[in-house]
Amino acid sequence: MRVLVTGARGKVGRAAVTALQAAGHDVRASDLSPPVFERPEEGEADYVQADLTDAGDAFAVVRGAESVVHAAAIPEPTRNPAHVVFQNNLMATFNMLEAAIRFGVPRFVNISSETVPGFFFPEREFLPDYVPVDEEHPIRPQDPYATAKYFGELLMDGAIRRSDIRCISIRPSWVQHEGNYERNLGPQVRNASVLSPNFWSYIDVYDLADAIVLAAESDLSGHEVFYIASPDNVGGRPFKELVREYYGDQVQIKTPLPREDASGISITKAREMLGYSPKRSWRDYLDEEGRLKPG
Ligand SMILES: NC(=O)c1ccc[n+]([C@@H]2O[C@H](COP(=O)([O-])OP(=O)(O)OC[C@H]3O[C@@H](n4cnc5c(N)ncnc54)[C@H](O)[C@@H]3O)[C@@H](O)[C@H]2O)c1
Repeated sequence: MRVLVTGARGKVGRAAVTALQAAGHDVRASDLSPPVFERPEEGEADYVQADLTDAGDAFAVVRGAESVVHAAAIPEPTRNPAHVVFQNNLMATFNMLEAAIRFGVPRFVNISSETVPGFFFPEREFLPDYVPVDEEHPIRPQDPYATAKYFGELLMDGAIRRSDIRCISIRPSWVQHEGNYERNLGPQVRNASVLSPNFWSYIDVYDLADAIVLAAESDLSGHEVFYIASPDNVGGRPFKELVREYYGDQVQIKTPLPREDASGISITKAREMLGYSPKRSWRDYLDEEGRLKPG
C-alpha cells in the first residue's frame, strides 16, 4: 500500500515509517522541517515538507495515499502557548481527515493520546475513576492538548457518518525508545513513589510502531479507539499493591488484572480487535536500578 506518515521526523512517526517499510509498504513521509536536496539514501522514504494546519499542504500530501497515519502534532500542552497547541493539533487533524475523505482514502490512522480522559494535564487535578484505564473510561479533558485530541476522535466519528472512510484512533501511552528510557523511566524504576497520571504506564516505540502497522492495514469498519501501552508497569511491581500504597481507596481497581505487574492502561481491546501483541519491555533497556544496560 501507499502509506502517508505525517510527523515522520518525530519519535513516533520515524519508527512508524521504518516499521511500515519493513512490512513492505510504499511510504511517503511528511513533516514541518525542510527536505534534503540530495540523492536519497538507500531505502529512504520519499519526503515532502508540509505544514498541515494549511489545508492546501494537507491536500497535496494526502493525494494518492491508500492509508494515512497522522502522527503530526505538538505532543503535549506545557511547552507552547495553549492556543498554539490547540489550533495546531486540531486543525492539522481536521485538514488531514478532510483531504483523506475528499480523495477517497479508505483508511485513516489517527494518533490520539492516553491523555484524552483528562487527568494528565488538568488545571484542577482529579484521578481516574478506575485503573487499568480502558476505552470505556469517561472523558473529561480540561487542557488544550487533551481537548484537541478528544475533538480529533470526534472528527473521526463524524467522518464515518459522512463517508466510507475507516478510522482507527490510537491512544499511545508515554513513548519510550533507547534514547530516552533512562531519562524518563529510570527514576520510576528506582523509586515507585515517583508517580505519573498514567499509573506507571509507558509504551515502547517499536511496539507502538507495530500497532500502527496493524492499524494501517486493518479492515475494521467504522471508528475504533485503542489504547496502546506496554503490558507491564515501570518497575515491574505488583500493580494492586502499588495502587493501594500510593492512592489508598481513591481509585477502584478493575479485576481480574491481566498480570500481576500490570500496566495502568488496559490493552485488552487492542489485543482482541487489532491483534496487538507487544514484545518489548523497559527491562530490555534498563537494569533494576533504572540504568541503561550496556550495548
Ligand atoms: N511522545 C509521547 O509520549 C506521546 C504519547 C501519546 C501520544 N503522542 C502523540 O503521538 C504523535 C507523535 O508524537 P511524538 O512523540 O513523535 O512527537 P514529536 O514532537 O517527536 O513528533 C511530532 C512531529 O509532528 C510534527 N508536526 C507538528 N505540527 C505539525 C504541523 N502543523 N504540520 C506538520 N507536522 C507537524 C513535528 O514537526 C514533529 O516532527 C503526536 O500526535 C502526539 O500527540 C505522543
